Amino acid sequence: MNKTLSFLTGFWGSSIGKKIVVAVTGAVLALFLAGHLSGNMLLFIPDEGHAFNEYAYFLHHMLHGAGVWVARIVLLTCFTLHLIGTIQLTRMNRSAGQKYQKETSQRSSLSSKIMIWSGLTILAFVVYHILHFTVRAGNEYNNPDLYTVIYDGKEYHNAYKMVIDGFNWAPATIFYVIAVTLLCSHLHHGVASIFQTLGLRTNKTESLINLGSKVYSLVIWIGFISIPISVITGIIK
Ligand code: HEM
Repeated sequence: MNKTLSFLTGFWGSSIGKKIVVAVTGAVLALFLAGHLSGNMLLFIPDEGHAFNEYAYFLHHMLHGAGVWVARIVLLTCFTLHLIGTIQLTRMNRSAGQKYQKETSQRSSLSSKIMIWSGLTILAFVVYHILHFTVRAGNEYNNPDLYTVIYDGKEYHNAYKMVIDGFNWAPATIFYVIAVTLLCSHLHHGVASIFQTLGLRTNKTESLINLGSKVYSLVIWIGFISIPISVITGIIK
């Protein structure tokens, strides 16, 4: 036990250990986005939210309600380690006179230069998003008289209506579009950096990895911004 603990503290204490933690937690978060986006695509089914509401119900009730908490704990742990790791690496490298982002990428693109700022916007966005759709603060989304639907005699939260009402408020939509754009800029550089840190970006694989990270971030960007845009333009109603 003591040996495991001292290995873990030593690993976290070293610059390479922190980089690996940042890479692995970044990979988990990037994969979460693909999963979240796939589920959100159910909003486009023209069934007045039936499939999306059943999916949201499933997420909240899987493993007798424990599943959503396991996912939350994993995501929060990854998010915290990713954030603290990055801040500490930046500090370590600044005091050593180098730049972490430059070190992990041969080329210094705009995405790589603004990693800290795109990352901090994502942090602000996630806090806002959780208050908006999970805590449902400052609105009526928790009001059962307005946001309950019944399918086959069973009550469901009308998450579909909540998303539509949420994005029909222009400031929220604008903030989502800006935040998702910065998120995808972050992903563009971040996904390629994961491969670099794990030693998988070689001369042979570099162009494929760069293309893959570009395509991945583009798909995530188009997918996520398509939702608020479809709501304000009436495609989803
Ligand atoms: C713009 C498109 C998006 C829509 C429509 C959307 C929709 C939702 C909804 C409805 C929920 C709550 C589900 C429920 O409790 O019933 C949720 C949860 C969540 N979303 Fe999103 N989301 C979007 C983008 C994002 C992005 C870009 C991120 C990450 C940066 C994200 C991260 C999360 C997380 C972490 C949760 C879980 C919060 C929790 O329950 O603990 N979402 N999303």
